[in-house]
Amino acid sequence: MRRVVVTGLGAVTPLAVGVRQTWRRLLDGHCGIKSIKDRSPQFAALPSQVAGVVPIGSRENGGWTAKEWLQPGDERKMALFAQYAMASAEEALNDAGWSPESPEDLEATGVYIGSGIGSLDDVVDTTLAYEKGGYRKVSPLFVPRLLINLAAGHISMRYGFKGPNHAATTACTTGVHAIGDAARMVAFGDADVMVSGGAESCIHPLAIAGFARARSLATDWNESPHEASRPFDRTRAGFVIGEGAGVVVLEELEHAKARGANIYAEVKGYGLSSDAHHMTAPREDGEGPFLAMKRALKNAGIKPAAVDYVNAHATSTVLGDAAENRAIKTLLLGEDGKRHAQEINVSSTKGAVGHLLGAAGAVEAIFTVLAIQEGVLPPTLNLTQPGDPPEEFDCNYVPQTAQQHQVEVALSNSFGFGGTNASICLAKYEK
Ligand SMILES: *[C@@H]1O[C@H](CO)[C@@H](O)[C@H](O)[C@H]1NC(C)=O
Ligand SMILES: *[C@@H]1O[C@H](CO)[C@@H](O)[C@H](O)[C@H]1NC(C)=O
Ligand SMILES: *[C@@H]1O[C@H](CO)[C@@H](O)[C@H](O)[C@H]1NC(C)=O
Repeated sequence: MRRVVVTGLGAVTPLAVGVRQTWRRLLDGHCGIKSIKDRSPQFAALPSQVAGVVPIGSRENGGWTAKEWLQPGDERKMALFAQYAMASAEEALNDAGWSPESPEDLEATGVYIGSGIGSLDDVVDTTLAYEKGGYRKVSPLFVPRLLINLAAGHISMRYGFKGPNHAATTACTTGVHAIGDAARMVAFGDADVMVSGGAESCIHPLAIAGFARARSLATDWNESPHEASRPFDRTRAGFVIGEGAGVVVLEELEHAKARGANIYAEVKGYGLSSDAHHMTAPREDGEGPFLAMKRALKNAGIKPAAVDYVNAHATSTVLGDAAENRAIKTLLLGEDGKRHAQEINVSSTKGAVGHLLGAAGAVEAIFTVLAIQEGVLPPTLNLTQPGDPPEEFDCNYVPQTAQQHQVEVALSNSFGFGGTNASICLAKYEK
């Protein structure tokens, strides 16, 4: 099987626009979650009034200004999730030094970007306009802005990539599914290079209302937004919605070596599973995530005992974090009793950025790649008392501050509504 490596990274997150600035702020313990109640009376009437919002500002300072990333006309043509994807793809491709011009290279490069929800703004605004004004009020750009696969579509049009052009939409598992599937396309020879990841931007009152009705969101920290997302903490009580995008350049190993590309890490394995249980609630025993992680390691040919770090999906919900915690322990403690839970290193970066839904898995895969590259475990913010009960939550969750530790092998997990679970195994590249 052809080996697949990561050669470029790009991200737009609530911490910053750009991978380096995001990572620096994450390691420094910054939080990208803020109050959104002043955005409109509709937001102010919702039970959850906090969100991980991409900061507005200049590109130089790690802020978002659409004009600095997009071409004239793009803002009309592309919904915000696709704009974030476009910006992240540009950063990732520059980082990888991959700007092909020959027909062969363009044909060997593909794009695979997913989104969980896409553009609710366009759905709502167009619905209201249509109700009032009828047919003539529907924009010719409505459908292209709406379609999830148009993030990938626009990126391939911009660069002329003629390889696979694909999109997953599997709720909050989207980002990992996109990267995992794309890695398989490279391994199978459908492409030599894949630009892949996830994007999301649906901080809309209707989305928040829906998630709040499903009782998924944190509602107790509207006055202290930085404390709202607290994965693994005893007092966690729901996730915080976030927006952004993560894009990686995946490349066949020999292709990367031949052009002298910088190799961040290798994609060693990918595992998918289903809870087959409930629309939104996990099984308590964490069987779904357990199977996903187990399959990712089997696919990688790596034993559970070799895993140095897990970037958890942990969204800060009572049931989800507990089930994942159980699954991680069941898998990584093994049966020989030699390993103690305290030696298992797992953190959830959602304390800092919230839950980026369809972008979460991609952004977190990037954090995992950087943990491997730099030998540092990113922190779980706001974790003061793991639980409940504390004896169940006895791993090292990297509370509050980053920890230096060599990471050779890591897992990054993502789980979504509908019971879909996935895990990707990333490792230090070794000849
Ligand atoms: C977890 O990290 C700590 C340092 O923070 C390290 O001492 C320990 O060996 C790590 N465990 C594993 C399994 O890598
Ligand atoms: C939550 O995280 C923020 C950002 O790091 C920090 O300022 C705050 O002190 C944390 N709160 C708790 C209770 O740990
Ligand atoms: C597996 O995916 C399903 C969907 O969210 C999800 O309900 C469940 O939380 C996941 N499993 C766990 C234990 O997180």
